[in-house]
Amino acid sequence: MRLLITGGSGFMGSNFIRYLYNAYKTARIWNLDLLTYAGNPENLADIEATESKMPDDERRYTFIKGDVADRELIQRLFEENEFDTVFNFAAESHVDRSIVNSVNFIRTNIQGTHTLLDAARNFNTPHFIHVSTDEVYGDRLEGSADEKTLLKPSNPYSASKAGADFLAQAYIRTYNLPITIIRSCNNFGPYQYPEKLIPLTITNLLEGKKVPVHGSGLHVRSWIYVKDFCEALDAIWQKAHTREIYNIGGVEKKNMDIVAHIASCLQKDAHAWIEHVNDRPGQDVRYSITHAKLKSHIGWEPKYEYKTAFADTINWYLANPEWWKKIRDTKEFTDHLDLQSKGMRF
Ligand SMILES: NC(=O)c1ccc[n+]([C@@H]2O[C@H](COP(=O)([O-])OP(=O)(O)OC[C@H]3O[C@@H](n4cnc5c(N)ncnc54)[C@H](O)[C@@H]3O)[C@@H](O)[C@H]2O)c1
Repeated sequence: MRLLITGGSGFMGSNFIRYLYNAYKTARIWNLDLLTYAGNPENLADIEATESKMPDDERRYTFIKGDVADRELIQRLFEENEFDTVFNFAAESHVDRSIVNSVNFIRTNIQGTHTLLDAARNFNTPHFIHVSTDEVYGDRLEGSADEKTLLKPSNPYSASKAGADFLAQAYIRTYNLPITIIRSCNNFGPYQYPEKLIPLTITNLLEGKKVPVHGSGLHVRSWIYVKDFCEALDAIWQKAHTREIYNIGGVEKKNMDIVAHIASCLQKDAHAWIEHVNDRPGQDVRYSITHAKLKSHIGWEPKYEYKTAFADTINWYLANPEWWKKIRDTKEFTDHLDLQSKGMRF
């Protein structure tokens, strides 16, 4: 098995590479990542260390620094390596950043996906799995989106993901490419860049800093533990149909409840530590998807209990302060947090 994972040095990609590396001992894995501010080689330091002790011909993991929108590079990689499956995680992924400046979102999320799809087409790649998001549906005041619901993205990030999702759909229809599109809800777990709600809350509280919460904090998001996500993706890869779209859903929670839960786990009074900041322009009130199709096609259901998964996540950040402190010390991070704390005025 020859597998290309794009964006494998980010949060979900690195968790998925670790999962694949342990689950499929004969798989050869290539990780193509540009190492933007969100890409961190330390996310896969354990695998690099294992590999460095192996003879060259037994190595199973290769890192390539590069841009998914670089046509020449992508053509060469596909030609040289004859991938069996491509998992496209690479993206600019933070809504707040897309509201400030969306240039890189269009380039990576749309142009990058387009470049990869063209290569998959040119080299007859047997399976291309595109990682999309529940955010492409926009918000749902009631009910839940299924895979036939119209896409109605609300911000530049979700619009760029919808663009990529539409391209993948068009390549299924026009060229009959064996693509699977997955639309996942929010993930949480180890190695998530600490600008996102859950690691931001944990690390701010651990550093004795207030937690900026957009607007009322009553917005609802669905959450899945990244380990559940990895198992879902593996099951879709192995058992589900190609040329299909699958939602991967989780547990719905208000942002404020997430922050309050983390504060109580860390024995802090949430009210004293929350700082309400201006709401995001175009803020989505509620995301909700159903994964009934995934359940009926392959019987998948999340297996980790929400509270246990949350406790495991908090414990991981408690046990790995050197990982997140290094990130939080960078100017990239402090500049963004400063902007976020000021309430995203543009
Ligand atoms: N995190 C979530 O809750 C969530 C939910 C649903 C879908 N998704 C999707 O899952 C994917 C991964 O999300 P994440 O949270 O791990 O993101 P992330 O921001 O943690 O990681 C993105 C990775 O992509 C890399 N990258 C960015 N631009 C690149 C380029 N031009 N070429 C190559 N690599 C590039 C970055 O260096 C980084 O390693 C994204 O496509 C995102 O839209 C995320």
